[in-house]
Amino acid sequence: MTAPRALRGRLLDFTADPAAAGAAALRLVDDGILVMEGGRITRRGPAADLLPTLGAMPLDDHSGKLILPGFIDLHIHYPQSRVIAAFGTQLMDWLERYTFPEESRLADPAVASAMARFFIDELLANGTTTAVVYGTVHAAAADAFFEASAAAHTRMIAGKSMMDRNAPTWLTDTAKGSYDSVKDLITRWHGNGRQLYAVTPRFAITSTDEQMEACAALMQEHEGVYLQTHLSENDKEIAFVRELYPWARNYADVYRHFGVMGPRSLFGHSIHLDDSEVAMLADSGSIAVFCPTSNTFLGSGLFDRDRLAAGGVRIGLATDVGGGTSYSMLATAGEAYKVLQLRRQTLRPLDAFHMMTRGNAEVLGLTHEIGTLDVGSEADVVILDARATPAMAHRMTAVEDDIEQELFVLMIMGDDRSVAVTYVAGERAVRPR
Ligand code: GUN
Ligand code: ZN
Repeated sequence: MTAPRALRGRLLDFTADPAAAGAAALRLVDDGILVMEGGRITRRGPAADLLPTLGAMPLDDHSGKLILPGFIDLHIHYPQSRVIAAFGTQLMDWLERYTFPEESRLADPAVASAMARFFIDELLANGTTTAVVYGTVHAAAADAFFEASAAAHTRMIAGKSMMDRNAPTWLTDTAKGSYDSVKDLITRWHGNGRQLYAVTPRFAITSTDEQMEACAALMQEHEGVYLQTHLSENDKEIAFVRELYPWARNYADVYRHFGVMGPRSLFGHSIHLDDSEVAMLADSGSIAVFCPTSNTFLGSGLFDRDRLAAGGVRIGLATDVGGGTSYSMLATAGEAYKVLQLRRQTLRPLDAFHMMTRGNAEVLGLTHEIGTLDVGSEADVVILDARATPAMAHRMTAVEDDIEQELFVLMIMGDDRSVAVTYVAGERAVRPR
């Protein structure tokens, strides 16, 4: 158990969704103290009240900087840290030319371990303390990831990719083999410390009917596991799904048919959807995950946030590295703003910061553990500096004392340089040299 530690700075989190509750959802304490003990937040309040009560407790003084809950990334691929910034292709060619060859390297557990450690360090450097993570097809690479996360004390949701067709033979499993190995991974990792499992059929293209059925069975047999996959990202992908599933009404109908939609199911991209697909996501309580830097980088399309929200779909935000181009949820929110500009929609800074923290926790059903600075929550915390670079500090001289503008500067100009410190379960995360 970690020793008590107090943080001083500007506490910022959300008690509700500002899209519904307005600015009252924002909870800002200008000179605040957060006390972390045994991995959780145990006290919080104005410095004037709490400082005199701390005695000899170590105090990290971040005065002037913002203290937020650690960021949550709802869709990212840990084996793709060397695929990020691969030139010149769209989804299907990108998978074949860059991604599948790289993922095959993780057949070696030593490679997988090193990749997992790099990846988690990079997330923490960007202030992300929880992510929903794809592994490769290799079960040992999923073990390597969970081991690295357990060692870092991070709360991660991850799974071994399941692919039994339309991928190179050395990257495929079988319906039965994947069922058995995922069952074993769930037994060992789901709810083990802070680790949670996500059943991970890569997308409808790379799974047979039998494997999709195995995914549904795994979800039914194991209370509380998640499911993650990709949906309607790219035109060629969608055309291939139509060929493979001629009986389906559309792409989402494939997932609906096999029973893998639901409130713990995350559908990455969800860009090109017809009205019946929006209704399927909404009726099942499924989560559509907006991956803006990936959607622009791979030329996939513009996520229609307002249409999905009006249809009652629950929405989250994610980087999707290595299709995505930044590990930073700040940069991701900045790109989301630009995508929505092109759609004549908007992303207000309070909505963006809510999404990165409490909003993403809420769609995961985890607000009792992460996403806020509530007393009792796990002590995952990020310290942000809106004046981290000369250009940011210069811009900030024009927007002093306006929290919404400060948050907007952070999401448009910020990245890992704006992350002063990240705490995981009450301990300062330090990148190994
Ligand atoms: N669809 C299937 N696999 C992938 C992947 O690795 N990245 C993205 N962006 N889309 C996918
Ligand atoms: Zn993805």
